[in-house]
Amino acid sequence: MPHRILLVCLGNICRSPMAEGVLRRMAEEAGLDDALIIDSAGTGDWHVGHPPDQRALAAISKRGIDISDLRARQVGPEDFARFDLLLAMDRDNRADLLDMAPTPEDARKVRLFLDFAPETGVAEVPDPYYGGRQGFETVLDLIEAASRGLLDHIGEKIRRTG
Ligand code: 4NP
Repeated sequence: MPHRILLVCLGNICRSPMAEGVLRRMAEEAGLDDALIIDSAGTGDWHVGHPPDQRALAAISKRGIDISDLRARQVGPEDFARFDLLLAMDRDNRADLLDMAPTPEDARKVRLFLDFAPETGVAEVPDPYYGGRQGFETVLDLIEAASRGLLDHIGEKIRRTG
């Protein structure tokens, strides 16, 4: 059972690259990295080719993760064939992905990332771009919770199906 996961936000310079870094690290720690393909992309094209935002790099490096080699790219309809799950950071991102989905089956691959962290009581990872530095800490806390929930879900599925 392939688990190809695309994390999607607006610019692909703040939330989704941080989610890519955190999920990758936690997958390694859980021994699930061989079972997963993880990538990120943005619905917008303003930052294509750019590294993550300085504030994102600073916040995630405090948690021991380096994502400075990532470069922003835009999500496209072809990503629905490449990935099993497209996880949106907020409802706007989800709506854009649903508009882009080539088939109804593809649309079923789209979920909110925080669906995997119901205990937070939060549905959306807030856009930190125009906020202060504290916004990035909140975003990282939510990303860690959703990553833990997602990896639990995948680990469970692998144990059941072998
Ligand atoms: P992200 O944050 O979607 O978490 O990468 C943003 C980055 C850039 C912009 C908005 C949000 N922007 O408007 O350029």
